[in-house]
Amino acid sequence: MNPVKYLSLGVALLFAVCVQAETRSGLNGMVASRSALAAQIGSKILQQGGNAVDSAVATAFALAVVYPSAGNLGGGGFMMIAMADGRVMAQDNREKAPAAASRDMFLDAKGNVDRNLAVNSLQASGVPGTVAGLLDALTRYGTMTRQQVLAPAIELASKGFPLNDDLAGQFAENLEGFRAHPASLAKFTHDGMPYKAGDVWVQRDLADTLQRIADQGRDGFYKGKVAEQIVKEMQGNNGLITLKDLEQYQPVWREPVHGTYHGYDIWSMPPPSSGGVLLVQMLNMLEPYNLGKLGYGSTAAMHLMIEAQRRAYADRAEYLGDPDFVKVPAATMVSREYAKQRFSDFDPDHATDSTKVGAGKWPEESLQTTHFSVVDKNGNAVAITTTLNRSYGNRIVVPGAGFLMNNEMDDFSSKPNTPNSYGLIGRDANDIQPGKRMLSSMTPTIITRDGKLVMVTGSPGGSTIINTVLEVVVNVLDYGMSADKAVSSPRFHHQWMPDNVRYETGAISAEVAAELAKMGHKGLSGSGFGIGDANTIVRKDGVLEGVSDPRNVGGVAGY
Ligand code: DON
Repeated sequence: MNPVKYLSLGVALLFAVCVQAETRSGLNGMVASRSALAAQIGSKILQQGGNAVDSAVATAFALAVVYPSAGNLGGGGFMMIAMADGRVMAQDNREKAPAAASRDMFLDAKGNVDRNLAVNSLQASGVPGTVAGLLDALTRYGTMTRQQVLAPAIELASKGFPLNDDLAGQFAENLEGFRAHPASLAKFTHDGMPYKAGDVWVQRDLADTLQRIADQGRDGFYKGKVAEQIVKEMQGNNGLITLKDLEQYQPVWREPVHGTYHGYDIWSMPPPSSGGVLLVQMLNMLEPYNLGKLGYGSTAAMHLMIEAQRRAYADRAEYLGDPDFVKVPAATMVSREYAKQRFSDFDPDHATDSTKVGAGKWPEESLQTTHFSVVDKNGNAVAITTTLNRSYGNRIVVPGAGFLMNNEMDDFSSKPNTPNSYGLIGRDANDIQPGKRMLSSMTPTIITRDGKLVMVTGSPGGSTIINTVLEVVVNVLDYGMSADKAVSSPRFHHQWMPDNVRYETGAISAEVAAELAKMGHKGLSGSGFGIGDANTIVRKDGVLEGVSDPRNVGGVAGY
């Protein structure tokens, strides 16, 4: 069947900022991504007979070429895979602190966090995990060769592609950040002049690096020329990553977080992400109250969800970190008994105070992380969220190698109770230690029922990621929304500290906001759009509906 494609007009009108809200349905495969080009590549791989893992790996490598603010070789991420035969896997390709990292490395002489050092330096880079993770997943669960899945990315980098308004605009906006680094300026400008939409953007160095990976596998990145290029840049600029750090990097296959919700199976990312644990914890708190009956957007439903968010995020700050370093009580946190106890002080009429521990700032919104969802014709599914942390990472391109380095070290808690880029605070569980992985909020999630795929979702958005995923999930499972509606509906966010409810225009009506304020909810500020970018696929009655989040341009490709 030909894919039925339609622009979601209602959504387009509702979100004046959205340019290419796209929904597509199909019977076979589907890829939903922040980049239309990357989605098309993923879909082509499916049509060539690749499975969801082949497609996801090809899409991820393509994103490193066509969506460089977050698609990456120099960063890391998480991957959930649910095979149609019932196997579910969680892969952690998160960056690790280099061996020379130390707990107080971002503190200045006065003991304050040097924010500039924590995000704009080579010390801010963790040891990249993406390449090792993608190749390992391909070997274990893919069916195609490295060369096959890397070919489209190599072609796009070497031959170039015309920049759209989105990318040309982003490059121009980030020009000042790139200026300090000659290799970054060379990559993102035309001899120092900003690119314009329509210009063909060629990335020769990146094409060479990708070719090395295609030829040599992980050794093409973690050893030899590329590794030497990374280390040379580090050594010249106070960076910590060594050849040994690179050679030793390994992705980790972890037990997925699993919960059930109204008969659905929720599969998501375990620590060092906080995402899966918090998602299941919140769903456990919500299930007994039956959101569907309370009604979408009702005061009772909003109050309930905000209170669940408040408690879950408070636990995040205290307990979560890299399970290879700290004892994370994940099993307890996702148990129904714990949710019952944790929610036992829920007062249906009053907001709880998020007292004490230091306040943070609301996160800045930008284009920092990216999530995409893939489903193939056999019902295998992959959810990948990947990042350089902030937009374009530390904005430092490795000279000669053509890719950006991450600034993921800022996801550690550099100082107890002191907010990071996303206003998140943490303590010992997430302190910096050599070889440790920094805590994440990334929440790639797959939902099944009776062993059959129901939906694939996830989002960028720093601290807001987990609530975005929660809201998309309850929109589908509790409120019966289509994928399009579930993703485009406005979102709200509470992260315990600061004790504020922030929401997109329309997420909370004026009446409900007034009632919530009366109950004691604070800082109810609604404005604009921009919480998350949840590129989602829902399968209903055998039909796949893919949506690229209308908050940004993006694309869905399927057949
Ligand atoms: O892993 C994390 O939680 C963060 N590094 C994610 C950053 C992010 O989502 C920024 N996106 N807008």
